[in-house]
Amino acid sequence: MKKVLVTGANGQLGLCLQKIAPKYKELKFVFKNSKDLDITNMEQMSSFFAVDDFDYCINCAAYTNVEQAEKTPDIAYEVNAKGVKNLALLCRENDTFLIHISTDYVFDGEKKEPYTVDDIPNPINEYGKSKLLGEKYIEEIMEDYLIIRTSWLYSEFGKNFYTTILEKAKAGENLSVTDEQIGCPTNAINLAKFVNQFILLDNIKSNLYHFTDRIEMTWFEFAKEIIKIENLTNKVIIHNDKSIYLALRPLNSRLD
Ligand SMILES: NC(=O)c1ccc[n+]([C@@H]2O[C@H](COP(=O)([O-])OP(=O)(O)OC[C@H]3O[C@@H](n4cnc5c(N)ncnc54)[C@H](OP(=O)(O)O)[C@@H]3O)[C@@H](O)[C@H]2O)c1
Repeated sequence: MKKVLVTGANGQLGLCLQKIAPKYKELKFVFKNSKDLDITNMEQMSSFFAVDDFDYCINCAAYTNVEQAEKTPDIAYEVNAKGVKNLALLCRENDTFLIHISTDYVFDGEKKEPYTVDDIPNPINEYGKSKLLGEKYIEEIMEDYLIIRTSWLYSEFGKNFYTTILEKAKAGENLSVTDEQIGCPTNAINLAKFVNQFILLDNIKSNLYHFTDRIEMTWFEFAKEIIKIENLTNKVIIHNDKSIYLALRPLNSRLD
């Protein structure tokens, strides 16, 4: 039986992995939240790895607040770069295969087609820069790793675009959503299944992948789709507005 550590386990993707875990009898999961295992705390992490062995580590721990990262970038770099470096060092030392999740925001959005794994990243906000640095640490430090870039994750868990639109629509609020950016919304459950399937193969070659649900749309179109799926079309009006964010977003973040 393969033993799998999941860091950042109480975030959106971590909760999706927890939800589907009972279906994977061949895998023994250990879920750790940010308090029990803080990836920025090398002392705590070293003590933890000293008493337990893992075949795989799925790193779901990340600082994902894109707007706040622009205002206080240090926190984003602490988790998304330094924390990932800590994890990479310990995974290498303990012979643990690291599966790390990264983002479409490593790209600048200038490309007209979807981004392939061969495209050169050029992040335009602090979140994207911190995540790219995390990727680089892994590539430098480790031999056995998988980096999976994904985009626009949504699920029933936590605060994501889907749950936010749904909450506002149910409250009868009119919505203001931009159509300036195009990307691929991705159900976090599908990503969780993809990761687990990799582990079941148990013969993974180190690599960089892009994983999405492959349907391209703007945030505006995504919001309309959510309203339609949830049968709330009569309840809300969606305005197509310009984005008013501090952090720049890539206009095209479709991943191939
Ligand atoms: N959400 C998206 O749309 C999206 C898009 C592309 C890529 N991604 C990537 O996908 C991955 C999963 O994202 P997600 O949506 O599940 O994010 P999330 O819901 O924000 O979850 C991140 C988790 O990491 C934990 N965390 C933060 N700092 C930590 C630390 N120092 N040590 C351990 N855990 C820590 C957080 O715990 P606390 O809440 O206790 O701080 C939270 O539970 C991330 O790598 C993200 O960059 C996400």
